[in-house]
Amino acid sequence: MLEKVKVVVEKVISFVPKTEGELNAFRIEYLGKKGLLNDLFSSFREVPNDQKKEFGAAINNLKQLVQNKIEEYKDSFETEFVNSDIDLTKNINSDNLGSRHPISLVRNQIVDIFNRIGFTVSEGPEIEDDWHNFSALNLPEEHPARDMQDTFFIQTNPDVLLRTHTSSVQVRYMENNKPPIRTLSPGRVYRNEAISARAHCIFHQVEGLYIDENVSFSDLKQALLYFAKEMFGEKTKIRLRPSYFPFTEPSAEVDVSCNICNSKGCNVCKYTGYLEILGCGMVDPNVLENCGIDSKKYSGYAFGMGIERIAMLKYGVKDLRLFFENDVRFLKQFDKSI
Ligand code: DAH
Repeated sequence: MLEKVKVVVEKVISFVPKTEGELNAFRIEYLGKKGLLNDLFSSFREVPNDQKKEFGAAINNLKQLVQNKIEEYKDSFETEFVNSDIDLTKNINSDNLGSRHPISLVRNQIVDIFNRIGFTVSEGPEIEDDWHNFSALNLPEEHPARDMQDTFFIQTNPDVLLRTHTSSVQVRYMENNKPPIRTLSPGRVYRNEAISARAHCIFHQVEGLYIDENVSFSDLKQALLYFAKEMFGEKTKIRLRPSYFPFTEPSAEVDVSCNICNSKGCNVCKYTGYLEILGCGMVDPNVLENCGIDSKKYSGYAFGMGIERIAMLKYGVKDLRLFFENDVRFLKQFDKSI
């Protein structure tokens, strides 16, 4: 037996693999399930007791030698490609490279713009409960404003629904964080609406929330003006129109000057010179209290915008459905930078 092991040891020492295949075959021959080492280990039982120690040491030594050999040569064969017909220097066909989806591009840009003034991203679940999507936002049951957003309910339980807006994330954030708060919540939202060029049952929103002592409406205006200029260009103007949202008081809708006609009036802005981009307002004290924030000490603003809407304006896309069809001819037109 020992003699046999010695012969094998010699063989292993002198083995020099010439290809990766040879090294692989070597590994299988010695270390494979039915390989020589397994055989030797199972014949250990038959070895007379007084030789067991020596034999055991010999086969352990052999195993070590085999492993060392594999280790020594395992990285040597990468050069095989170099010597083969494969041309590693050839350019890949860049026409087939993917690109970011325009919605992701615009989302990232919005996040980036608000990051620069201290907002950080927070996220929440797409399947929500009534409290976070409605009640905490000053929309108690039976409140008529609930009809502003047609809701998809999950099964028959009216307490579980697909969130209709990302405002639900501001509730979650306020419940879990103390002021000062500066957060931005991008995400997907769902509404039970007929699909058309201007509406879809799935779309994306970004919610912004700023809570601190002495936050005023002029802080809100300034942040939105900064955003509009960064997004649509330095010359962009904004216009605020009084509006109503249950979770803000006062509330406003914000328009940006139409950069297609320089506010002179065209069919995109319907000859008004302005395009609506978002809703906003001062967070209603009831909402602060619902989320455990002292409304006597703190105030804040919030805003919400549709990412598709911003992307349509930015890229001149006239049909919102294009963002969901994933036609490569459409997607290829957008920025290829990652
Ligand atoms: N949640 C509103 C919507 O989906 C958008 C919105 C309006 C969000 C005003 C806000 C806000 O935070 O203050 O239509």
